[in-house]
Formats: sequence, structure tokens, C-alpha cells
Amino acid sequence: MPVTIHTLREWKRTGQRFAMLTAYDYTTARILAAAEIPVILVGDSMGNVMLGYGSTLPVDVEDIAHHARAVARGAPDQLLVGDMPFGSYQCGTDLALRNAALLLKSGMHTVKLEGAGFAADITAALVERGIPVMGHVGLTPQFSNAFGGFRVQGKQEQAAQRIRDEARSLEQAGAYAVVLEGIPRDLARTITGELGIPTIGIGAGPDCDGQVLVVHDMLGLTQDPMPKFVRSYGDLGRQALEAARAFAHDVREGAFPDDAHSYH
Ligand code: KIV
Repeated sequence: MPVTIHTLREWKRTGQRFAMLTAYDYTTARILAAAEIPVILVGDSMGNVMLGYGSTLPVDVEDIAHHARAVARGAPDQLLVGDMPFGSYQCGTDLALRNAALLLKSGMHTVKLEGAGFAADITAALVERGIPVMGHVGLTPQFSNAFGGFRVQGKQEQAAQRIRDEARSLEQAGAYAVVLEGIPRDLARTITGELGIPTIGIGAGPDCDGQVLVVHDMLGLTQDPMPKFVRSYGDLGRQALEAARAFAHDVREGAFPDDAHSYH
């Protein structure tokens, strides 16, 4: 059965937790589909882990659309979320609609926007036109220049109250779920209890309805030091390094290809 936004709503109602991972290519999408990961995000984190930028800010909507088409071919039954990158919705509703439509035409079922305030207004406009929206509040990487870096948000009471209000405003605007990133676990638990839509945590503790990680971090592919909230479930970076070294060694020594890997 394909996963839809209604499946997530039902899981919130019945208290079933769920996983979400990012993917940016066909092969990874196929693996996540086989692992029955219900929600896949084609995230603007591709700026860091796929494209080698220092942040998500240089990513364009065409980058997301290109990778989205590959992911959609590999994961036919998952709920697919296309990230709206920096600059694709900040300029106003018309541009946001055009860019969200591009992501849906590229095989995504829904889009994700960072922030509230203006982003809540855009959420309402998209939802009204049949484009489901996942919200994203807390440590929103597209605001890193405004935050002065990547620091946990909502530690002070006033800031915590603001994030609660933002999450509620996104629900009121029609968002079907909201990502809570980089906030204290108590705050995430409070918001999760207050909202009728699922919360999906990343660096927000265990009490959210769902949890999301960047797939490269989860697989141990990322070379950079990991933030505290990441758990790597694999060591693929090291395995890939060892495999590449072994291949180069065998070629140098004349051990590959051997007769078994040759045509006769
Ligand atoms: O782009 C991304 O990968 C994200 C997740 C970290 C939520 O926005």
C-alpha cells in the first residue's frame, strides 16, 4: 500500500512512530524502499553530502528536481517529499507555487518549507492549490546566517514559546507534518503533544512522532565530524575506502582482472 499523508495522520492518531530518511539517487531510493522506510526526503542537504558545498544555500530547485526524478523511479510506494531550497519560496507565493509544481511534476508528492510567518502564508497558498506541505522549525539551516551558525534553538523560554507558536501556525496553515530540528527534547515533547499533525525530529529527542536522518550520516558515509544527535548504523565510508584501495592494489599487482573475469 502506498504511504500517503493520510497514513501519517493515522499513525499520529494511533501513536505509531515512523522513520524518514533522505535520498538523492535511484540506487539509494531502491534500498530505502526495500527497507520499507515509509517517507523519503529529497533534501537540500544534498548541497553538503552530494554536491560538496559548505551549506544548503547554493542548492537550486532544479538540483532538487533532477535528483527527485531519480528517487521517484526507485521508490514507487513511499511518501516522497521534495525540499524547497533557499530562494525558491522566499520571494513570494507565485514563485513558490511554480517551484512546488516543478517538484510535484518531478515525482514528489509533497514539499517541505523551512520557517513560519511568511512560510506559513505560503504553506496555506500551496495547500489550497493541492500541494501538501511539510513544515520545518527550530534550527532551520536556511537561516544559519541569521542564527550566526548552527546552534540549538529554543533553549530560552521566549525562544521556546516562539517555536511552539510557529509549529502551531504551520498546523493552522494546513501543513500535514512538521520537522523539529535542533531543539531541546522537552520542547519537542511539548510541541508533539500540542499538535494534531505528526512531528518529525532531528536532534529533537525521542518523543517526536517520527525521526529523520540524512542517509549519508546514517550509513557512516560522511567524513565530517557528526553532530551529537546522529547515530551511524553502518560504516560504509570506511568500507568504500578499503574497497577502492584493494581494487587499485590488485590492478597494480596484475591480480585483476584474472581469468575468471575475462571473456574467451
Ligand atoms: O535537507 C535535509 O536533509 C533536511 C532534513 C535534515 C530534515 O531538511
